[in-house]
Amino acid sequence: MDFRIVEMSKSHIDGIVKLEETCFASPWTREGIEEELSNSQAHFLAAEGGGVLGYIGVQEIAGEAYITNIAVLPGYRRKGIAEALLNAAARGAQERGCEFITLEVRVSNSPAIALYEKCGFDKAGTRKGFYTNPGEDALIYTKTLRGAK
Ligand code: COA
Repeated sequence: MDFRIVEMSKSHIDGIVKLEETCFASPWTREGIEEELSNSQAHFLAAEGGGVLGYIGVQEIAGEAYITNIAVLPGYRRKGIAEALLNAAARGAQERGCEFITLEVRVSNSPAIALYEKCGFDKAGTRKGFYTNPGEDALIYTKTLRGAK
């Protein structure tokens, strides 16, 4: 599967809006995604391959990297795109001096949980009733970047 991971730019916005609308019940708006282009704490990456196939959003604050979104178009899943996005985001965060990277995931989202566990994230706790539409608990997953290769 041919794709490359690049920093998000204006040219990716349409593709990312489509990904959000395809993959999530409460998608980020176009305005919300566009704002991240000028947010110095945001490090968004896109997987390109004849269009935007996937993307990851990370915000880095005070040495902590927080994954806000990750999604891959349904027709391009199980080809290693999310793993490449996640590893590139973790590498970037480490290079910028972050000590760990963390995220929340719905307890029912077994594909995403399997992805995070494959990429070396450990379950760090639960947030009760974290999600709406539908209401659900979140699991917190974290990976230490200090000393990571
Ligand atoms: N079932 C079981 N394991 C899965 C899986 C599935 N459906 N999807 C991914 N994995 C695990 C596997 O260990 C896989 O490695 P393998 O293919 O060698 O077995 C590993 O994750 C890497 O998979 P990858 O191909 O990189 O993932 P992907 O590109 O298909 O994207 C998601 C995974 C979760 C991003 C994708 O399913 C998606 O966009 N889901 C909707 C949006 C979403 O839920 N985002 C997460 C919000 S927290």
